[in-house]
Amino acid sequence: MIYFGCDYYPEQWSQWLEEGEARWAEDARLMAAAGFNVVRLAEFAWGLLEPAPDQFDFAWLERAVDLLHDHGLQVVLATPTPTPPPWLLDAHPDITQVTADGRRLGPGTRREACANHPVYRERSRIISQALAAHFATRPGVIGWQTDNEFGCHDTGRCYCEHCQAGFRTWLAERYGDLDALNEAWGGAFWGETYRTWLQIPLPTHSAAQRSPSHLLDFYRFSSDSWRDFHAMEIDILRRTCPDHFVTHNLMGFFPQLNYYDLAAELDFVSWDNYHYHGATPAGVAAAHDHMWGVKERNFWVMEQQVGQVNWSAYNPVPPPDFVRLKSYQAIGHGADGVVYFRWRQALGGSEQYHSGLLNQAGRETMGYREACSIGQELARLASVLEGTEPRAQVAILLDYDSRWALQLQPHNSRLRHDPPADYSLENPALEVDRDAFHEPRYLTGRAYLAWPFSAAYTAFWERNVPVAVVAPESDLSRYKLVCAPFLNLLRPAVVENLKRYVAGGGTLVLGPRTGFKDESNRLFASPQPGPLAELAGVTVRFFDSLEPERINVLRWEQIHGARRTEIGLWAEVLDPVGAEVIATYTQDWYAGEAAITARRHEGGGHALYVGAMGGPTLYANLFDWLLRDLDVHPLIPSMPGVEVCARYGEDGRRVIFLLNHTGQVQRFTLARPVQELLSGEEFSTFVRLRPGQVAIFEDGSQFGQAL
Ligand code: GAL
Repeated sequence: MIYFGCDYYPEQWSQWLEEGEARWAEDARLMAAAGFNVVRLAEFAWGLLEPAPDQFDFAWLERAVDLLHDHGLQVVLATPTPTPPPWLLDAHPDITQVTADGRRLGPGTRREACANHPVYRERSRIISQALAAHFATRPGVIGWQTDNEFGCHDTGRCYCEHCQAGFRTWLAERYGDLDALNEAWGGAFWGETYRTWLQIPLPTHSAAQRSPSHLLDFYRFSSDSWRDFHAMEIDILRRTCPDHFVTHNLMGFFPQLNYYDLAAELDFVSWDNYHYHGATPAGVAAAHDHMWGVKERNFWVMEQQVGQVNWSAYNPVPPPDFVRLKSYQAIGHGADGVVYFRWRQALGGSEQYHSGLLNQAGRETMGYREACSIGQELARLASVLEGTEPRAQVAILLDYDSRWALQLQPHNSRLRHDPPADYSLENPALEVDRDAFHEPRYLTGRAYLAWPFSAAYTAFWERNVPVAVVAPESDLSRYKLVCAPFLNLLRPAVVENLKRYVAGGGTLVLGPRTGFKDESNRLFASPQPGPLAELAGVTVRFFDSLEPERINVLRWEQIHGARRTEIGLWAEVLDPVGAEVIATYTQDWYAGEAAITARRHEGGGHALYVGAMGGPTLYANLFDWLLRDLDVHPLIPSMPGVEVCARYGEDGRRVIFLLNHTGQVQRFTLARPVQELLSGEEFSTFVRLRPGQVAIFEDGSQFGQAL
């Protein structure tokens, strides 16, 4: 079954409208009419659920749960901890976070609290425990969302006194003694050698760039702080509500928290799928594939955008079929739940410009009408989708330590991941700058990922080759091709995993900047790619960080004859040591030197090293060659603008999704006729998809076969 529903805020209608709670029944009726079967409630309602310390008012939430249940809707409740109530902030103003430049966040709004503040933790524990106990056996309640979007609004890292103390304890546990820490952080540089733990500062705003090792450990500590806070809530829910599932709504490629760690104890992850004005279908697909890959398990979209958002630089109305396309794209990539944000546009509060399925007047929007038709379709598709999940023969590795290491030292302005901290819409110069960071727009600009990730993912996506975006420690043996586009930092376990994979016959593609940093974010004392040099059969003689206008051109003699491909931003000159040269530079003073190499291993393993950065074409040239060699086929030969994804059942069932993301009619031919499941129509081999159209069909082909 696909869980299908909306995020509902009944509390916002108990006081704002004349009709107040009387409106709820009409809301529930309209939800049921749309085919909804689930509703999420209460993630921001702490101040209403506990209006004064230890005085709980769960009655209104009970009434809402019961009413929804009476209408056939199941409920996901949330622990309301992102919004500490006014009484708590009033009594303990220091609960709020401190920024790197020493400013304390003002109370109110949400997400302002520090994960390490003992009072915030304790009060979060109390409200979570009370709520869980109260609703543990309430009919209709099926699961929990912990909190809401940990880290949102740039709150993944705090610099308060509790974080200062916590950081020192975390470091003492990690390193055991100060000599080890000083060594790992390169303390001799600028004489930053600590003699006591109390001397270690938080990496606050400083005169010059801090040690990247110090910074990386702080990023890890901050991520662990939210992981620990999260563990406290999960533990309460597990003990108190053993029959309920527990999930959390992640944010796709959010850069501040290690999602593998944060989600480790959840039953499944959820995520919030919003599209700022530069988002691309490939970017959203990549985020879905990462959300699947966080636990290598199907996921939910807990907030699916249904109309305008209120926070983007521009906020266009999504075109007709947007909700339908995004909903089926999610399901095609492994979503077992699609929950729309939000039910009705809020009359009060800071998100008045955010649309809902109903507008502020309670009228149905285009999004609601699309949801209604999807609801009917999903009822028909339920048995077809039951027990299915995406499967990929190709994986891309996404590593948080490496992301952070590159974020800290992009070494090329165009490779910066994050917009500047002082970015603001009022400052047009920064706006231009920010845009530059996001080029090329292969992925959503919110991804802030290194170019090689975007380029490699897009090359697969354009070829209709499904991809899993997974952790570098995961079991890689199920994949024929593994691409590690930016493993700048190598932990020993990752090195072992990659070696095991290639020894088992796997094909591994390493990207530029691989293996420059060790686990402590120091440079390896051996040539790049450090401990992977032998596996790849190559060392990096030097790297060049190119100005935007400096383009080089690769020649692919080994595999593509006279073909040429432009590269830019980053060029490593490679010395093969047992590898063959696949492509060479043709320009600049290192023309003729190796840019891409490949080493074949006994047992069939193949390790490639790509030393240059480029767009999808660079990777496409490489992948076309490798995929042919590995007998990996696209689901359907590629058609520009039409995305293809698939879910598989244990019984060999394959459900294929075609999504026309373009504003034009798309025509193409299939190898054989199929029956389209949404319309019930027979598709001849000739297929015509109107703009925004989704087509779904089942087909008996085996995994890995092209249609
Ligand atoms: C999400 C958040 C929602 C709402 C939404 C607006 O990040 O979870 O509560 O604020 O953004 O787009």
